[in-house]
Amino acid sequence: MPVSVGILTSGGDCPGLNAAIRAIGKAGIESLDLKLVGFRDGFRGLMQDRTIDLDREALSNILTVGGTILGTSRDKPHRMPVGDQVLDMTSVMLEVYQKHQLEALICLGGGGTQKNARRLMDAGMNIITLPKTIDNDVALTDVSFGYDTALAIATDAVDRLHSTATSHNRVIVVEIMGHRAGWLALGAGLAGGADAVLIPEVPYNVESVAEAIRERTRHGKHFSIVAVAEGAMSVEQAREFEAAGESKRQAENKKVKERVVERLATLDQSLKGNTLRVTEQLEQLTGMETRMTILGHLQRGGTPSAADRLLATTLGVRCAELISERHFGVMVASRSGGTATVPLNEVAGNRKIVPLDHPWITTARRLGVCLGD
Ligand code: F6P
Repeated sequence: MPVSVGILTSGGDCPGLNAAIRAIGKAGIESLDLKLVGFRDGFRGLMQDRTIDLDREALSNILTVGGTILGTSRDKPHRMPVGDQVLDMTSVMLEVYQKHQLEALICLGGGGTQKNARRLMDAGMNIITLPKTIDNDVALTDVSFGYDTALAIATDAVDRLHSTATSHNRVIVVEIMGHRAGWLALGAGLAGGADAVLIPEVPYNVESVAEAIRERTRHGKHFSIVAVAEGAMSVEQAREFEAAGESKRQAENKKVKERVVERLATLDQSLKGNTLRVTEQLEQLTGMETRMTILGHLQRGGTPSAADRLLATTLGVRCAELISERHFGVMVASRSGGTATVPLNEVAGNRKIVPLDHPWITTARRLGVCLGD
C-alpha cells in the first residue's frame, strides 16, 4: 500500500514548479512507493479539500511547462479570507490532512510559504519544503528554482534595450522584480552590461546616478541603461525604513506596534513609484531623453531553463527520498551543486539578501557600474 503524501504550490508561480512536482511524483511512483495528492491553489485548496490525483498521466508532459499545474495563491493558513472575515483556518487544514491520512505535506514556495509551512508543522503536520522563487531570497539555500530562468529573461531584456537606447541616445530605466532583494536586478544588470544598477541592499542617491550618466557622455557614450530592482530605495527612504524598524523593535504595546506596522506598509507602498520617480529625476538632472520599461510578470512566465529543470528535479527527487526515510520538518536546499536538508525553523522568517561584499557587487564596482551610492 503506497504512502499518501500531499503537495501544494504557494506564493508567486515560477518556472520549475512543474519539474519539481513531476520529479517528486515520478520518484514516488517508480521507486519509493509514494502516492501524491495535489492540493489546488495553495493553502486555500488544502482548506477547501480541492485535490488532483497526481498519477502517471497527470505527471506526464509537464517538465517544460511554466507556472504550476496545481495553481497557486498567496493565502496564509492563519489569515485566510473566508466570506467577509479573515480567519485562522489552520485546524481545518489539519482535518483535511488527517482525512486523507497523509504521511506528510510538501510545500513548494518562497519565503512566505516557508513561514506558513512552519505554522502547519507546529500544528502537527509532517512538513517538507522546497525553495522556489525568481527572487532567490530564500534563506539557507545557494539558489532557488525559478531564479535562473528569470535571470535569463531579465538579461535578455537588458540586452535588447541597448540597441534602442543607443539608436535614440536615450537613458532607459528598466525595473526588474526581486521583491526586497537585489539578486535579479544585480545579476541581470551585470550580465546585460547595465551602466547603473540600483538594489535594495545599497540605498541610492539619484544625483550619483545622474553624474555617472554625465560622465559617460563626457566619454562619448550617449546612452545609458539603468537597472532598478523593484525594491530599491533612496537613502532617505532607507532611513525611514530603519527608523520605523527600530520603533517596531522598541514598541511597548500592541497599539503602538500596530501603528508602526501600518507605517511600514505605507513605506513599502511608496517604493512602488520609485522607478518612475528615478526616470523623471534622471531626465531632469541629465537633460537626456529618458524612458522607463517595467518587465513585470514576464520574468516569471514560460518554460524553465535547463538549470532550473535540473535543480527542481534534483531537489524533488531528494524530497521524495527524505519522505520515504520519514525525515520531516526540513527544507531541501541546494548546496555546492548537491542538496542539503535545513531545519524549517531556521529557514522560516529569514531572508537571503545580497551581502555587500558579494563578488557581484565588488565586480560591478571594479567595472565602474554605478550602484547609486
Ligand atoms: O515573489 C515573486 C514575485 O514575482 C516578486 O518578484 C514580486 O515582488 C511579486 O512576486 C509580485 O507578486 P504578484 O504576482 O502577487 O503581483
